Amino acid sequence: MQRLLFFSLPPHTFLATFSAFSGRHLAFPVIPIVVVLVLLLLLSVHQWRHPKDKRLPPGSMGWPYIGETLKLYTENPNFFFANRQKRYGDIFKSHILGCPCVMISSPDAARVVLVTKSHLFKPTYPPSKEKLIGPEAIFFHQGAYHSRLKKLVQASFLPSEIRGSVSEIEQIVLKYLPAWEDTTINTLQEMKRYAFDVAMISAFGHKQDSEMNGIKQLYQCLEKAYNSMPLDLPGTPFNKAMKARKQLNATLRRLIKERRETEKQSGGGGGLLGVLLGEKNQKIDQLSDSQIADNVIGVIFAAHDTTASVLTWFLKYLHDNRELLEAVTREQEGIRCRIIEANRRLTWDDTRHMPLTTRVIQETLRTASILSFTFREAVEDVEFEGYYIPKGWKVLPLFRTIHHCADFFPQPEKFDPSRFEVPPRPNTFMPFGNGVHSCPGSELAKLEMLVLLHHLTTRYKWQVVGDEDGIQYGPFPVPKGGLPVKVTPRKIRHHEA
Ligand code: HEM
Repeated sequence: MQRLLFFSLPPHTFLATFSAFSGRHLAFPVIPIVVVLVLLLLLSVHQWRHPKDKRLPPGSMGWPYIGETLKLYTENPNFFFANRQKRYGDIFKSHILGCPCVMISSPDAARVVLVTKSHLFKPTYPPSKEKLIGPEAIFFHQGAYHSRLKKLVQASFLPSEIRGSVSEIEQIVLKYLPAWEDTTINTLQEMKRYAFDVAMISAFGHKQDSEMNGIKQLYQCLEKAYNSMPLDLPGTPFNKAMKARKQLNATLRRLIKERRETEKQSGGGGGLLGVLLGEKNQKIDQLSDSQIADNVIGVIFAAHDTTASVLTWFLKYLHDNRELLEAVTREQEGIRCRIIEANRRLTWDDTRHMPLTTRVIQETLRTASILSFTFREAVEDVEFEGYYIPKGWKVLPLFRTIHHCADFFPQPEKFDPSRFEVPPRPNTFMPFGNGVHSCPGSELAKLEMLVLLHHLTTRYKWQVVGDEDGIQYGPFPVPKGGLPVKVTPRKIRHHEA
């Protein structure tokens, strides 16, 4: 999600300025004008690098306007950040795609931005993202409206709320697994379908409305634009997505109306929608239809590509670490035996007794760090750890750099779940963020991973097809090609037959 922010270029004024000075107007005193222009240019480059007489963090602002954008895009982003951290320290400045930025790679400084002084750093997204998801979604806000929404969203994803969803999530898993048997699947695509189905029940509850299929199709059209250029011209993916977004709004409003009417007799119908519909603040009116619609879409957006990307990495890491795969499978087989003996289905309590699988998930979240960093913007001039951050500058806590720092995670490139046998140092492990905007869906994400992994490891084997190594961004980093794997059934042991 965050890499896309780079596509939000501010208005391009350089070309206009340049063309105004070009060509036939150069009839007389050419040399003095050129001298003045060169001096002005030097001055502006100086100001670019040293905007005020205050102490900015160290670092390079690169070239005027393009800054260090080309370097970030041509180098491996991990090296880009790590090299600068080595050269300048944990807080350094840069300039990426039109935005002056301060990058933060120490846990304590990241905590200041995300937790203790979060009111000075607002979340920031490109306008195209706000248009697609809806401007009233939780991500784009801070202050009273944000905390009101956060309480509601958090409430609907608390362990006490989601523990009842295990059997529904399991039903979704059991729908997909047989379809994968003896075929080659694109792991990322299949995990997206799975995570999308789970996101839909979390958003709308278990009540099957007639509108559900329409909503699914419109959302799929909308999501095609998340990774495309925000060009609103006829025929572009962005333009089609904006049309789908309008239709989605109309459909959601119909659904909200229906649910508001039935709510009076039988409650809000469950899911986040049910919680948002039921919310009545004594001082403020109930949430408006568009506030509800934007947040339902926002949660579906936040819930599915993230979880699917992590699951794809999980399969890759286990595939490449055979001993670990066997150990995880043994843990899951133990649970499966108990379930069969008691003639029952998988429960929430079973998912609380999967210590190794849980550690593998943690190590996957750390190693893959699919949200490499997040974006904030200084709402005023800020004195920060001895430096000055001007108002409007972007501030990026670098999760991945922290997760790959040898001081906190020795031999950081080694995939070693045993490192989580002791809890990591505070604020060093932030796959779900930290502070006011941290992820309210973390427990659901872990639950849906555990349920899928239970059935997958105990019943199937998977073999990576092809030798494509490397990473693709879509927008999160995932194994290249989405990890094609051939899925085959495992031999079932006697007592399970
Ligand atoms: C493995 C899967 C997931 C990962 C790695 C993840 C990661 C994150 C991170 C790092 C943030 C904070 C972003 C920031 O500070 O700017 C975040 C926010 C958020 N996530 Fe997740 N997430 C995952 C799954 C989910 C799920 C399943 C849901 C919904 C049920 C969800 C809903 C949200 C929402 C609504 C926010 C915005 C919170 C706010 O602005 O206050 N996420 N997520």
